[in-house]
Amino acid sequence: MKVTISAIRSMEILDSRGNPTVRVFVELSDGTTAVSSVPSGASTGENEALELRDGDPKRYGGKGVLKAVANVNEKLGPALIGMDATQQALIDQRMLELDGTQNKSNLGANAILGISMAVARAAAASANVPLYQYLGGAGARRLPVPCMNILNGGEHADNNVDFQEFMAVPLGAPSFREGLRYVAETFHVLKGILKDRGLSTGVGDEGGFAPNLDSNEDAIETIIQAIEKAGYRPGIDIAIALDSAATSFSSDGKAPYDLKWSGAGTKSSEDLIALAEEWVSRYPIVLWEDPLAEEDWEGFRKFTDKLGDKIEVVGDDIFVTNTRYISRGIEEGTANSSLIKLNQIGTVTETIEAVRMCRDAGWRYFISHRSGETEDPFLADFAVAMDGGHLKSGSASRSERIAKYNRLLEIEQELGKSALYYWK
Ligand code: PGA
Ligand code: ZN
Repeated sequence: MKVTISAIRSMEILDSRGNPTVRVFVELSDGTTAVSSVPSGASTGENEALELRDGDPKRYGGKGVLKAVANVNEKLGPALIGMDATQQALIDQRMLELDGTQNKSNLGANAILGISMAVARAAAASANVPLYQYLGGAGARRLPVPCMNILNGGEHADNNVDFQEFMAVPLGAPSFREGLRYVAETFHVLKGILKDRGLSTGVGDEGGFAPNLDSNEDAIETIIQAIEKAGYRPGIDIAIALDSAATSFSSDGKAPYDLKWSGAGTKSSEDLIALAEEWVSRYPIVLWEDPLAEEDWEGFRKFTDKLGDKIEVVGDDIFVTNTRYISRGIEEGTANSSLIKLNQIGTVTETIEAVRMCRDAGWRYFISHRSGETEDPFLADFAVAMDGGHLKSGSASRSERIAKYNRLLEIEQELGKSALYYWK
């Protein structure tokens, strides 16, 4: 029997930074209900789908989302009533038509994505299959390696570290559960090391520590020290991944770069590439995201020429999970991987398309949370469904981060012996 959408409603809630975001409730004709909540970024790409905010200075400094909520309740929701809930692509397409803009600026990507995710979850529940299986099929059984952001800098912290994320990657672990343990233990050991040095152990937006360090390099060396002290072998049990989020210290998306937080001064694209080459030769780095800024396509290409056969080069702000930019990247050899964030593009269907494009090109793809998150663990199921092999969901603190890791623990347990876990 066809199960159709019978009700959609929305409300304004708060994200992990205490900023408003959209929650959507969907009800189906068989009585199934589902809810989803939309994340929000801070170091956003210029070409991301538009997150609709009220701009009313009297509420939340203009960040309210009542307009997006009203768009769900009054425009998008009513137009979807009666549609077959399993027709995800058709439902998402209908919302794109209702919005009518390239970047969802009319009704808001936050409104549209909230519905898109809640519909997927409702349809899965109605079919009585887990969300990862509903979206990924019967073969979905690979757990992602959790790239845990244990040290934060850039826009995500108030310290003197320029690069935004330093991640511990448990690629040598035998299972997700063990991998999570490796990096959670490393996180706790890192805390002790920072404490012993008299440094701050307060955490940044994604739950990693945000101390004032001697240099960006000090961040890497301190993490390596933590890995060893926790009893693991750097590069074998646990490797390192970085997200420079270089747009945030660029000149309007291009060179020159200003390492402003550390005070290390102005750098060209070539300087940053040379620094990366040196680091990659000295440290067990396996992945580098946004080493250059979103409009520095040429710098990105040169970076990939130099390092693409050694490490995964991921584009985040430059591709914004959009097949228009990913296809250009594939053609020009800009990177060899794309970050994948549902709210950068705004529907589940388009996100899946971005993943498919990467896969078809032999690229990798890196499934990601946002720095502003909620307790919704949608991302965990999505990562398993997409068979991406790795995800980032922040550190071993802050429940909005842990919610995804905990859901992955559940999925792994449910899959039992059929679960897979490997880096490449
Ligand atoms: P954002 O950061 O969610 O603030 O954009 C995450 C990232 O840059 O990968
Ligand atoms: Zn990024």
